[in-house]
Amino acid sequence: MEIIIQPTAEAATRIAARVMARLLREKPNAVLGLATGSTPLQLYRELAQMNLDWRRVATFNLDEYVGLSPQHPESYHNFMRENLFQHVNILQKNVHIPDGMAADIPALCERYEKEIRAAGGIDLQLLGIGTDGHIGFNEPSSSLASRTRIKTLTPQTRRDNARHFGGEAQAPHHVITMGIGTIMEARHCLLLAFGGKKARAVAGAVEGPVTAMNPASVLQLHPRVTLCLDNAAAARLKMKQYYRWVFENKPEWQKF
Ligand code: PGA
Repeated sequence: MEIIIQPTAEAATRIAARVMARLLREKPNAVLGLATGSTPLQLYRELAQMNLDWRRVATFNLDEYVGLSPQHPESYHNFMRENLFQHVNILQKNVHIPDGMAADIPALCERYEKEIRAAGGIDLQLLGIGTDGHIGFNEPSSSLASRTRIKTLTPQTRRDNARHFGGEAQAPHHVITMGIGTIMEARHCLLLAFGGKKARAVAGAVEGPVTAMNPASVLQLHPRVTLCLDNAAAARLKMKQYYRWVFENKPEWQKF
């Protein structure tokens, strides 16, 4: 794992934006796995200002709430449109987000997996992390080999999300999410985590055992993972001085 600790979320985001921009310049038909939530908001703002060509880029979002139409203000369809897609020249036909209104969810999930394969697999998967260690919406105890499927959110995640829905009672119970096995097939995983609320999940993911009880810990088995953290999210990492030292002493060609 490459662990990059920056003083602020803004500085960590700038590095993540450089990683993504470099990929889009080197591979104009890159396949991106995208995430939602508060964590990537600034990243999307930066990417939108970077004068990148998105015409041949394909995207696959991690997840969507079951029962929310693409027009619902809190749907991830709407989130992506508002925060990224309407600001760049991506083609709608290249955008993939699970349909929360699908009548046949298992069939939709199977199709989503096929579409990812048909696109050649995901070059870079952007990830946030839940306070319980979830990636996508793969909550603790999710199979580490899981594929795209329906999941029931934990009470903790529903509490974390309540602010978007005007209270916990209105927060959806179910989501469609890429599985952990799906995420692990991406060629590069870029995980962002900011703020002290994420510190415990981050420490478990990086320095704890690989366990389904902290789904992000499975990334220890992935050949190419980059974590962009602010100081607060890195606070509980025992080896943080070492990670900083490694980052500062990279060979020139490896720098961002
Ligand atoms: P957040 O959510 O970016 O809103 O903190 C992250 C996640 O739940 O994966």
